[in-house]
Amino acid sequence: MVRKKSSLILCGAFLFVAWNALLLLYLWGRPPIGRLGDEMIRLAEEVEVHLDTQKKLLKQIESHRAVWARQKDRLQKTQGPLRNDVDVEFIIPILVIACDRVTVKRSLDRLIMYRPSAELYPIIVSQDCGHAETARVISSYGEQVTHIKQPELSDIKVRPEHRKFQGYYKIARHYRWALNQVFHTFSQSTVVIVEDDLEVAPDFFEYFRALYPILRSDPTLWCVSAWNDNGRDALIDPSKAELLYRTDFFPGLGWMLLKELWDELEPKWPSAFWDDWMRQPEQRKNRSCIRPEISRTITFGRKGVSLGQFFDQYLRYIRLNTEFVPFTKQDLSFLLKEKYDEIFIQEVYSATLVKIEDLQHGGHLKGPGPYRVQYSSRDSFKVFARNLGVMDDLKSGVPRTGYRGVVSFLHRGRRVFLAPPEGWTQYDISWS
Ligand SMILES: *[C@@H]1O[C@H](CO)[C@@H](O)[C@H](O)[C@H]1NC(C)=O
Repeated sequence: MVRKKSSLILCGAFLFVAWNALLLLYLWGRPPIGRLGDEMIRLAEEVEVHLDTQKKLLKQIESHRAVWARQKDRLQKTQGPLRNDVDVEFIIPILVIACDRVTVKRSLDRLIMYRPSAELYPIIVSQDCGHAETARVISSYGEQVTHIKQPELSDIKVRPEHRKFQGYYKIARHYRWALNQVFHTFSQSTVVIVEDDLEVAPDFFEYFRALYPILRSDPTLWCVSAWNDNGRDALIDPSKAELLYRTDFFPGLGWMLLKELWDELEPKWPSAFWDDWMRQPEQRKNRSCIRPEISRTITFGRKGVSLGQFFDQYLRYIRLNTEFVPFTKQDLSFLLKEKYDEIFIQEVYSATLVKIEDLQHGGHLKGPGPYRVQYSSRDSFKVFARNLGVMDDLKSGVPRTGYRGVVSFLHRGRRVFLAPPEGWTQYDISWS
């Protein structure tokens, strides 16, 4: 069925190119007549440029299709007749978003080093920006990765005051194109997106494989992320590598989505700032992501669109998990909303309520926790967050890592919940 559909698409693309070629021949064959003639020639030249791009794209698609078909073949042979079709199709592609950073090598080296199977985790490197040196680095991986190139390199017309944000516009355009390749050209049903400045943990693949069925079966989830925004050394429990959470804050930075979500988002995909756009209520629709206690990705990049300063102050201190957790052997059904909410609310609101001063000069707090600190306004949230060392920003009213308004972290070795009063129902989107 899927194969039939993609042949149909290919057929359509071929007809389109053929039609353009005919049109071109026709236009070239006409003698120029004054200004109208010039106009025609300009038009014909434009058509020719488009034709060229289309041809290149088709060539790319064709060559990768062949590689993928071979991989699928091998997979079917090695798995034999005992595995059913669902298992055979259970491929989790990794999409690496690259541009002009040759340090994409560091991402790719780790991905390939930890990848348990090239067939089950094909790596697609999508390159924007046309940077020759980066292209050479990616090509050097040969058939270990599939290298595709975003064909539209021109600047995007933006409002004058947005000229400095050109980079963000290009990123959004690239994401849209690359995800369309994954889901339409390569006909995949899910994908994990990694950027070229992310380094992954040893159990990165295990993590996503185990959580795929959870994401698939719970409509109140829309992503699985490898990232903990409050994943700094002092804030995490190093003995709890297996600990997972639900979060209402879209973390990005190494995340999995399903094709169904892409079908929903693609038609209204924004021209810039796609991640904050996803955090808006119209897109999120009260859905949550899964995130780990200890990050399965860290970012090593400095030369981002604007992340330099943020990196120096914060991102560089995020801890990367080193211990392999066999997630696929564990029962992760506690993450399904109904079960999770019951236990989570019980755990948070039975924790001893303390004042922030008790934690800070906490000689007299005897127990190991957990403790709860209550906030009831945007300002008290910010003050408490800053004092306890967790991220204090809110997007569309949701604090980073927050679930039902609750931020869970370690403070001086004790579990702390920074939480709104009991009975929370919804976020106040005016909090920012
Ligand atoms: C999200 O949840 C709130 C509170 O329960 C509800 O009022 C709102 O309609 C929900 N929004 C969507 C899009 O489901």
